[in-house]
Amino acid sequence: MRGILTPPSPIRHIPTSSPRRQTAPGRWRRRTPPVLNSAISMAVSHPPHSSLPTASVAEARTALLKHAARDAMDYLEGVDTRSVAPSPEAVATLNALRGPLPPGPTSPEAVLHLLHAYGSPATVAKNNGRFFGFVNGGCLPAALAASWLVSAWDQNAAFFVQSPTAIVLEEIALEWVRQLLGLPEGTGGSVVTGATMANFTALAAARHALLERAGWDVESDGLFGAPPITVVVGEEAHASVTKTLGLLGLGRDRVIRVPVDAQGRMKADALPHLDDRTILCLQAGNVNTGAFDPAAAICPAAHAAGAWIHVDGAFGLWAAASPEYHRWTKGFEQADSWATDGHKWPNIGYDCGIALVRDPEILRAAMSIQASYLALGEHREPSDLNPELSRRARGVELWAGLRSLGRSGMAEIVERTSGHARRFAAGLKAAGYQILNEVVINQVLVSFGTPEKTLATIARLQAEGTCWCGSTVWQGHTAMRISVSSWATTKEDVDRSLAAMLKAAKESASEAG
Ligand SMILES: Cc1ncc(COP(=O)(O)O)c(C=O)c1O
Repeated sequence: MRGILTPPSPIRHIPTSSPRRQTAPGRWRRRTPPVLNSAISMAVSHPPHSSLPTASVAEARTALLKHAARDAMDYLEGVDTRSVAPSPEAVATLNALRGPLPPGPTSPEAVLHLLHAYGSPATVAKNNGRFFGFVNGGCLPAALAASWLVSAWDQNAAFFVQSPTAIVLEEIALEWVRQLLGLPEGTGGSVVTGATMANFTALAAARHALLERAGWDVESDGLFGAPPITVVVGEEAHASVTKTLGLLGLGRDRVIRVPVDAQGRMKADALPHLDDRTILCLQAGNVNTGAFDPAAAICPAAHAAGAWIHVDGAFGLWAAASPEYHRWTKGFEQADSWATDGHKWPNIGYDCGIALVRDPEILRAAMSIQASYLALGEHREPSDLNPELSRRARGVELWAGLRSLGRSGMAEIVERTSGHARRFAAGLKAAGYQILNEVVINQVLVSFGTPEKTLATIARLQAEGTCWCGSTVWQGHTAMRISVSSWATTKEDVDRSLAAMLKAAKESASEAG
């Protein structure tokens, strides 16, 4: 019989073998075969006369959802004992999902079966607390459960009239975010897909404000012939900021780059001339080092000059929620706009970004949409405050995650993960490896010697599977990045992962001779 570890050829039929799950690297357990229920696909291809599902369709849907919930629980229960990176064999079995679109329907049970049997093993086990790549949070149980409900609701969170629940919960969640980040009262914004879109959204507001001051209506007339705007970023600004400047017609490279120090912090005394046609982009939390631009030293003069200050605080801004780490975010509250993520430190799950603007009317001016069929009421309409029209009710997951955490829960995630980062740094340093950054929050950069040794260690670690870390080049030095962003990471996870790192480094060194 074809096993899940053996790459099958692209299938034309629904497999009759039962899905299996990996219980330990390389070991698989059988599960009860699914009942292939065709009531729903029958109803889809031959809809009943009434718009209500027939009893058999409703029952089949309930059975399907229970099955999906069981598969999801099965997945999460197994995630702790499997390799963090999927095995190459599991990735190869994704081929089973290829092939031409079948000419007729497939029962939803069979579709689910395919997903769990072939999709689940090829995922990256992000939810076990030992994924330290990029800056990826996990997903809080309340946010995960909320996302199931959100899918069942299938709300379009564009207008109040389409979903009072989605719009009200987004509004409440945004206010909680404002309070947690210590931003000025009256600040408003929108939930978007991630910090890239949040940077885009907030910088569109900045572009509007500066050109309006110059008597130019950028939304109507575009940028052809517009008065020039100067954009200032730090030498270590995140790539998403320059990408969004490109999308906004302000140019990825048409920026003034301010020199930074060894941690990637903008040098306050190296700022160029700023005026009321300048957008100054600061950073709260460098993606490599976690360092913060010195906002308290920069913002007062930048404001006095009339510049628009934007903050990319994709993860670092959440340090404001912790009494212990709050000091790093001092001064950022003086900005005009902020971009951050729910799917990073708050662990809301993908996707969830947040754009905030001190004066939400400026954001509205940049984002509003009108059409005769769009019935706008007196409520806050997200369609006027973000680039999208139809959209998922992401604010509900944000609301649920933050509600489950409370203020102390958010502070605890910041403090616990930053403590774990220090534990990693101390363990690696004690073993003789070089830590390249000041570990101020949850990011650690470590060198295992030459670039080759460091890259070989990372490759070995990823293949071994206990945890997952990626690489970077920090100011000319090849390093392994450790980003501790998941609520689920425990001290035991850190110690297990540290042991795996040290073993990988030792083996790479002895292989290199
Ligand atoms: C500082 C910073 N800004 C922006 C981003 C982009 O965030 P997203 O991937 O949610 O778009 C990241 C991602 O890691 C980041 O670290």
